[in-house]
Amino acid sequence: MCGIVGVVGLQDCAETLLDSLKRLEYRGYDSSGIVTRAAEGFVMNRAVGKLGALSATMRDRPLSGRSGLGHTRWATHGGVSERNAHPHIANNKVAIVHNGIIENHAALRDELRAAGHEFASETDSEVLAHLFLAAFDQGMSAQEAGAAVLSQIEGTFALAAMHVDHPDMMIVARNASPLAIGLGDGASFVGSDAIALAPLTRNVIYLKDNDFAIVTPDSAQIFDAAGVSVHREVVIVAASQGMVDKGGFRHFMEKEIHEQPDAIAHTLAAMTGTDGTLSTPLSRDDLQAIDGIVMLAAGTSHYAAMVARYWIEALARVPVSCEIASEYRYRKPVTGAFTTAIAISQSGESLDTLMAMRHAGEAGLRTVGLVNVPESTIAREASLVMPTRAGPEIGVASTKAFIAQLTALICFAAALAEARGSIDAQRRDEIHEHIRGLPSIIGRTLGLFDDIRPLAHSLTTARSALYLGRDVLFPVAMEGALKLKELSYIHAEGFASGEMKHGPIALIEEGLPVIALLAADEVMGKAASNLQEASARGARIILVTEERAAHVVDFADQVITVPNVDPLLAPLLLTVPVQILAYLTAFEKGTDVDQPRNLAKSVTVE
Ligand code: G6P
Repeated sequence: MCGIVGVVGLQDCAETLLDSLKRLEYRGYDSSGIVTRAAEGFVMNRAVGKLGALSATMRDRPLSGRSGLGHTRWATHGGVSERNAHPHIANNKVAIVHNGIIENHAALRDELRAAGHEFASETDSEVLAHLFLAAFDQGMSAQEAGAAVLSQIEGTFALAAMHVDHPDMMIVARNASPLAIGLGDGASFVGSDAIALAPLTRNVIYLKDNDFAIVTPDSAQIFDAAGVSVHREVVIVAASQGMVDKGGFRHFMEKEIHEQPDAIAHTLAAMTGTDGTLSTPLSRDDLQAIDGIVMLAAGTSHYAAMVARYWIEALARVPVSCEIASEYRYRKPVTGAFTTAIAISQSGESLDTLMAMRHAGEAGLRTVGLVNVPESTIAREASLVMPTRAGPEIGVASTKAFIAQLTALICFAAALAEARGSIDAQRRDEIHEHIRGLPSIIGRTLGLFDDIRPLAHSLTTARSALYLGRDVLFPVAMEGALKLKELSYIHAEGFASGEMKHGPIALIEEGLPVIALLAADEVMGKAASNLQEASARGARIILVTEERAAHVVDFADQVITVPNVDPLLAPLLLTVPVQILAYLTAFEKGTDVDQPRNLAKSVTVE
């Protein structure tokens, strides 16, 4: 993944580059670096670790210049070290930053070495600097160099390159990895996304795959892969500046948990028609034509898909297949039964999900992007967009975006069911009414922080924890386990309660924390029996349930209750305490809540 930024034509641009990198740190934080074109040539600072380390270096050694590049890295090729940090400079003449993977880097490196080029890092990216160097050294123009480099590289990339002899020019290019060009007043910018450019300009050009551009302070000349000049539209983006503010909370994650009532309300508004009833971006005819749905997603978004499968199958009687995007992409799926693919992605940039969506589109499925970032690649490529309105999510572990995805998906399920005649308009409106009540109910669950704190404290010493749920709460159990492991590094697994006896029960030993999710639904009795089996073998049962169901597990060691809710909506409500538990456990352990180790928020490599 990684985040890239570039500026041409702005006095003392280093500060702007650093500020833009802060907005991109969600894309990786193994190392970072900035290069500028100063009077004496390229000058560069790089530092290992989070952006704070680079900020400190920049204070000690400020960089001057009107043009430069910045990068925040999530390591792929080559370990986490300063020499592998970007930017990479070849022969003091060419500087580059890159996001993606150059798949044929080894062969290119061999050829370049044979021609006398010397490499300073173990990265695939450094070959780009040397390819540009070779092109310019052969006397090529910027346009020729761009076309020549692009014709040699295979893989995914968003890149920006500068040549020391062209101080006010950047060459940028993309394939699969996102890249936005921002046009300002007397200066131009590039960034991995519009958020990076938010305070600088709202006039943005998105390159198409294999496009490259020559960017100067007052122009962006764009060429397609064949080197032919092309026009790409300038779009006005809505990104706002205030998005990276913690708003008085200790962490973005804490803030984003508290923003969940709003995330639901805003998403619901987007799924409500002018007549006040549930509505989707698909017309009634479109909905009636849906015979089967493939859901494509990764990480937390995949668990949202799994919850939605229960809803859509139960309400609309439409078959749903939930696919891990990275697996689907290389499968030869039999798509006959499916007419629609829904790609679910907070960022709209996860490469696995984007590629899986393209794969489904090529197989003839209609593609719908359920995304939180309206300017994202998935949003632009899907044939239809179903928005979540969670607002910018900065904490690496997804919280409010997940809740917003669930909100959009339950709305979609109810609208689909009504359009297909499996529920009547009255039931659809009843579900709508229940969803309308959710923001205030979820608001009440936010009061659970104090109740959960001692429990979180007790979990900090656990080596492992299990999360159990049945039916629609099974995916929520997996999401709870994911949250705990990614934030506090405690091993955790989510299982379907009924599956315990087929193997995982062997893991139970005296005192093993089992976080049990229970709702007053059809399977409540059976789920409670499964918990009994775990308790009988020494598990410490931490019950997370609705008030009215708490009595069913009278053997629980600890109980966290949420208000009663329609069983359909239990997944939304029971998610909140497991998020708070993971957040507080990480906080108590002292891990980096917003930027857990080895992770990144938006994964734009395979
Ligand atoms: C990364 C993040 C996860 C996220 C997943 C999918 O792995 O660390 O929190 O759920 O990507 O992201 P998306 O933006 O596609 O929903």
